[in-house]
Amino acid sequence: MASRPVPAAGLRCPLALLVVVVAAALPGASWAQPVSFQADVNGYSLHPPYFNLAEGTQISATATCGEEEAGGRSPPRPVEDLYCKLVGGPVSGGEPNQTIQGQYCDICSSSNSNKAHPITNAIDGTERWWQSPPLSRRLEFNEVNVTLDLGQLFHVAYVLIKFANSPRPDLWVLERSTDFGETYDPWQYFASSRRDCIEKFGLKSREKVTKDDDVICTTEYSRIVPLENGEIVVSLVNGRPGAMNFSYSPLLRNFTKATNIRLRFLRTNTLLGHLMGKALKDPTVTRRYYYSIKDISIGGRCVCHGHADVCDAKDPKDPYRLQCDCQHNTCGGSCDHCCPGFNQLPWKPATTDSANECEPCNCNGHAYDCYYDPDIEHQKASKNRYDQFE
Ligand SMILES: *[C@@H]1O[C@H](CO)[C@@H](O)[C@H](O)[C@H]1NC(C)=O
Ligand SMILES: *[C@@H]1O[C@H](CO)[C@@H](O)[C@H](O)[C@H]1NC(C)=O
Ligand SMILES: *[C@@H]1O[C@H](CO)[C@@H](O)[C@H](O)[C@H]1NC(C)=O
Ligand SMILES: *[C@@H]1O[C@H](CO)[C@@H](O)[C@H](O)[C@H]1NC(C)=O
Repeated sequence: MASRPVPAAGLRCPLALLVVVVAAALPGASWAQPVSFQADVNGYSLHPPYFNLAEGTQISATATCGEEEAGGRSPPRPVEDLYCKLVGGPVSGGEPNQTIQGQYCDICSSSNSNKAHPITNAIDGTERWWQSPPLSRRLEFNEVNVTLDLGQLFHVAYVLIKFANSPRPDLWVLERSTDFGETYDPWQYFASSRRDCIEKFGLKSREKVTKDDDVICTTEYSRIVPLENGEIVVSLVNGRPGAMNFSYSPLLRNFTKATNIRLRFLRTNTLLGHLMGKALKDPTVTRRYYYSIKDISIGGRCVCHGHADVCDAKDPKDPYRLQCDCQHNTCGGSCDHCCPGFNQLPWKPATTDSANECEPCNCNGHAYDCYYDPDIEHQKASKNRYDQFE
């Protein structure tokens, strides 16, 4: 490989530190704060911008307050669930009958749009929220899955969750799939104590990230306070060794990939430590325990292997499918191969130090396309575009 052609001016990015501010905000959601993080040193590698992947995804929950799975293929049927907030005291504007034993209570029902809490509320950019069935309906509702189907492969930098009228979960797992939901792997564990991390998830000392693909167990987000409107920010890039050198870390590039994201809730937070004996059977206690989510934002970008800085919808028939605007003579929705006629060398992702452009073939004018043959390169039997053998 001799000297490479000088890249076009636009590609010669200074090796400066870029601080990217990603507005996680959905339009009009004034309470959403931007999350800022440092981008890696880009050099010759190109990256499309980050955006909120949660907007426009398919989202589903295994259980929702005010509706009951009917089994099989029938749609869920409406039920009435009485729930109460963990915070005491009457609420201004509430009906008199909404204060029961000093707690503010209400009813969920999917048959009444003012009392419905479907999971789509978690990504619609409004103050409306999703709520799971209270444990008073059945204790098995400690376990609820919320799944987002991103529709294609993305690099995810962070997940930001804003909770609503309940505390953050006590025990849960953030999971991801890279095979369109066939299998899920843990991305990060959440528990209120080190002991739970070890007992529930079998992790010895992984509190801190040492490798780019370490799956850690965090205890900082499971406290009972705040009792309402808590937040969780999961950073999948920042704080990892490869964060500043993304194009050189195959581990981190792999670790941030996802086609589907699952929040696998395992246990609600309670005021009593874990519910035991009598309390489990007392609906005035268990109707105060459920999950609620006001907003999920996912900061991510297309997978373009360093070969594109723009990614958008190109097929009018499929407006949800985003494709990279490939440069460096690469082709494909994610610039994952060399374009026809540019197969002189094998395809490679771009790095900080080299665009790893695909090189045009030199077929002595006999053919337009060529294919890469490692034996020929080994024998230096192929002419490049400068008519040198390589
Ligand atoms: C309070 O009363 C109203 C009207 O009578 C009723 O629609 C609502 O469901 C009641 N709320 C609770 C929490 O019982
Ligand atoms: C949640 O998803 C996991 C796999 O990620 C599965 O094992 C579990 O049964 C699901 N839980 C519910 C309540 O569907
Ligand atoms: C990134 O990693 C490469 C290969 O390990 C190394 O040569 C380069 O100096 C690193 N760059 C930075 C900014 O750490
Ligand atoms: C990439 O991630 C997937 C999904 O977790 C894993 O199965 C695979 O072994 C990883 N590959 C590398 C090269 O780390």
